[in-house]
Amino acid sequence: MVKILDIQGASLPALGFGTWSLSGSRCREMVCYAIELGYRHIDTATIYGNEVEVGQGIAASGISRDEIFLVTKVWTNNLRFKAVLSSAEESLRRLDTDYVDLLLVHWPTRSVPLSETLDAMSELRSKGRIRHVGVSNFNVALMREAVEVHGVKLLANQVEYHPYLSQNRVLDYARSRGITVTAYSPVAKGRVTRDPALKRIARKHGKSAAQVALRWLIEQDAVSAIPKAGDPAHCRANIEIFDFELDDEDRNEIDALPKQNRITDMSSGYAWDPD
Ligand SMILES: NC(=O)c1ccc[n+]([C@@H]2O[C@H](COP(=O)([O-])OP(=O)(O)OC[C@H]3O[C@@H](n4cnc5c(N)ncnc54)[C@H](OP(=O)(O)O)[C@@H]3O)[C@@H](O)[C@H]2O)c1
Repeated sequence: MVKILDIQGASLPALGFGTWSLSGSRCREMVCYAIELGYRHIDTATIYGNEVEVGQGIAASGISRDEIFLVTKVWTNNLRFKAVLSSAEESLRRLDTDYVDLLLVHWPTRSVPLSETLDAMSELRSKGRIRHVGVSNFNVALMREAVEVHGVKLLANQVEYHPYLSQNRVLDYARSRGITVTAYSPVAKGRVTRDPALKRIARKHGKSAAQVALRWLIEQDAVSAIPKAGDPAHCRANIEIFDFELDDEDRNEIDALPKQNRITDMSSGYAWDPD
């Protein structure tokens, strides 16, 4: 039912479940519920402080670990070689698993050479502790450095992406190198629900504005989206997007919405790509 991206030998579900700000029993229950609904791609991070509950939610679902595409991230204070290794091992212990499918550098930093971080990620991959290496919040220059200077095969770059932000440059480079783009904050943290244009398109298809925004993302080549939902009704609605299609008129209208409205802008010292 859910679209799958076949990439570098991986099967990456184009729709995943984001867990930022979920904690405790709510996190455990929502991860389990998402899996019961059919989500097979779960996104967490060390900085979210919920890896234990994410692991418990996966276990409680009864779905075998190898059917889930599990993603976690290394925070900026752990990007030295040995720190990457120990951060990943701690994540695996908390998640109660032998491997994650994808480990991401959560944000770039100028304080550690990128090659040092990527060397550690490559070691984790060769030991089988992670299946794939990825990055997050990387601009094109940083992706280029990882791929062309350091020769690392990246599976994904996770960046903010929704109808109010163009990621054309990141998308163009990623596609040219067989890298997927994972859209975080795909419903713009709920803002899309108030958008008149998205609501109009939604009415036409008997869907909601959030479903239209998610459909717009996952119809794009090499793009996946990871909406977060603490409300079970949102969680269910967000996966009910594989039974309709947008048309050219819808896409043109969404493309025409004002872009460059970034929500998350942690100061990493690197400039975002211009539109
Ligand atoms: N790599 C990074 O630096 C980074 C940064 C930010 C986020 N992320 C990842 O991306 C995930 C998603 O991003 P996000 O949490 O920032 O934003 P988001 O998924 O765009 O928005 C989540 C918000 O939208 C609401 N919502 C979700 N589905 C809805 C629906 N169908 N109808 C109406 N409202 C809906 C949620 O409400 P309820 O909770 O009440 O359901 C919540 O308030 C995160 O959880 C995290 O895993 C990564």
